[in-house]
Parts: sequence; structure tokens; C-alpha cells
Amino acid sequence: MEDLTLDVPVDSGHGRILHGVDLTVEAGSAIGIVGESGSGKSMTVRTVAALLPPGASTSGRVSFDGDQVADMSSDRLRRYRSSQVAMIFQDPRAAINPVRKVGNFLVENAVTNLGWSRARAREKAIDVLREVGIADPERRLNAFPSELSGGLLQRVMIASTLLYEPELLLADEPTTALDVTTQSAVMALIDRLRRERGMAMVFVTHDLELAAAVCDTIHVMYAGRIVEKIPASELHERSRHPYTRALLDARPRLDGRESRLRAIPGQPLSGLEDVTGCAFAARCPFAVDICRTDEPPVVAVETGEIRCHRAHDRLWGDS
Ligand SMILES: Nc1ncnc2c1ncn2[C@@H]1O[C@H](COP(=O)(O)OP(=O)(O)OP(=O)(O)O)[C@@H](O)[C@H]1O
Ligand SMILES: [Mg+2]
Repeated sequence: MEDLTLDVPVDSGHGRILHGVDLTVEAGSAIGIVGESGSGKSMTVRTVAALLPPGASTSGRVSFDGDQVADMSSDRLRRYRSSQVAMIFQDPRAAINPVRKVGNFLVENAVTNLGWSRARAREKAIDVLREVGIADPERRLNAFPSELSGGLLQRVMIASTLLYEPELLLADEPTTALDVTTQSAVMALIDRLRRERGMAMVFVTHDLELAAAVCDTIHVMYAGRIVEKIPASELHERSRHPYTRALLDARPRLDGRESRLRAIPGQPLSGLEDVTGCAFAARCPFAVDICRTDEPPVVAVETGEIRCHRAHDRLWGDS
């Protein structure tokens, strides 16, 4: 994705949700997108899959293996979405038709999109259900979504993406709707399958720890902009954008040394808000005059990139 902007219709004309987003996912690698609610994480991944809201317009480029997504014919786009990229959403119940049996959902997709025979699709559906840890898959094929728990249903969604063996998995908060223990089982499954099959992944989450554990690089979004890109292994020690540091500081601590949560002061902004200068300036403890007047450039630093006027200042002492 290069210099991507996304505009959507709003009451007053149009509003910009994404402001010049650049990101690259290498084959087989995983990138994490983190940031507060409304920062544009979902819109970014939806743009990769060309699933935009009605009336939306974009500038910049999204390409996959050298092919421009915007230039794809509807046939090509169908192939792109059914065999090259796959998307797992936050709430599996919203992504599956409640009146179709699980088997029907899996088999029908494969027959329609991949042109397989029903027998082959059924056989493969049983294989992938077994692979995602669903016991007795033949019986589960006859279940309706309402008969499965959220965790099992998310496993079915993961299984459905495996039918096509996509090159890129787009996972938008795939475990947020699940309880904590189910969350970690489902996440471990996604992580294992992705690594075994060499799939690339864009992983969206609010959870920095989790992103750092399963991704190679972390992209921090604020108000429709990527404000920091950093290798996951450096996130804790060497991140430099004041917003990234504030997010890290706002995590609950388990060592009992701090009894209160340190919330980031002020309200998160979405890309739609009109801002002059840096979108984070109003909440930033290090903001100086220029931050309130000029949009910060993207600055290359040793660990990656940050969008900050004070990129080269020693705000944190050591880094
Ligand atoms: N169809 C739409 N039309 C207009 N605005 C939209 C539309 N969909 C999303 N938005 C706005 O775009 C901004 C970014 O939304 P997005 O869903 O990408 O945020 P997010 O980072 O995924 O948040 P969350 O963590 O809550 O899922 C928000 O301000 C949202 O209100
Ligand atoms: Mg979202």
C-alpha cells in the first residue's frame, strides 16, 4: 500500500479516513496494526481486500504481487479474494449466514469460487476442520452456526480461509469477541497455521503484547495515519513516537508496582477530524509550537520510521 488516502461520504461532503498510509507485507511475514478505536485499522485492511464502504474513493496504490487492486476486473477481483487474500473478522457470527449449515458454508464457497466438485470440497472441508482442532468434523458439517460456541465458530472461519491456502491472511481483531482462554487458543492456532503454510498476515489488534508476539513488525496508527513502524522485537525498548510510548504505558501492569492505570489524556481522534499540525499534539507531553501548526513528515530512524517533529530529539533519555 503506497500513500493511500481513503475518503468516504459524510454529511458535509466527504471525509478523509486514511491519510497517506504506506505499508508493505513481505511474503510469509506478519505485520501488526495497533492503535485506539477509530484510528483506521479496519479500513486499512479492508482496503487491501478492496472491501470499501459505498461511495468511498481512494488515491495512492494498493498492489498485490505487482497487480494493482484498483485495476482488477470483477473476475480477477473474485479470484484475488477467494484464493490470494482471506479475511478473518472480529465477530464470526456476523460473518456467517446463520441459516446455512457449517458444511454448506464451507463446501458452497469452494464449489462456487474454486470450481471444485462437491465431493472434493466436502473432503477438503473435513480436512481443514480437523486441522483447526475441531473434533468429529463430519458431524460438525451438519451443525448450524448457532449450535457452535464463538471459539468453535472462529475456528470454522479460520478453516474456511485454509481451504484456499491464501498467500495473505487479513485478521481484523480475530479474537476480540472470545473469552480470554479461547482467545489464546485461537491465536495460537492462527499463528501456527500461518507459519506452517508460509502465509503472510496483517494482524489488527488493540493488544500490543499480542501483536509483538506474533508479528515481525508493528505499525502504530493514530487518526488515520501510521505514526510508527518498528520491528516487534524493538517495540518495548526502542519505540520512540510519544503515542507508541503512551500506549505501552497505558497497559495494565501485573507486577503490582503501579496501582492505577495510566490512561492517555484526552480523546482519541479518527482520521475524519480536522487537525492542524500533528494529530497527536493535543495529547502529547512533548508537543512544541511546530507540532500544532505543521503536519509532521515521516522520518527514517534507526528502528524504522516515525511521523514526529521531534523524531531526532532525545525525549526518552536513552534512545
Ligand atoms: N462506512 C463508513 N462511513 C463513514 N465513516 C466510516 C465508515 N466506516 C468507518 N468509518 C469511520 O472511519 C474511522 C476509522 O474506522 P475503522 O473502523 O477503520 O477504525 P478501527 O481502528 O478499526 O477502530 P476499532 O478499533 O474500533 O475497530 C472511524 O472514525 C469510523 O467512524
Ligand atoms: Mg476495527
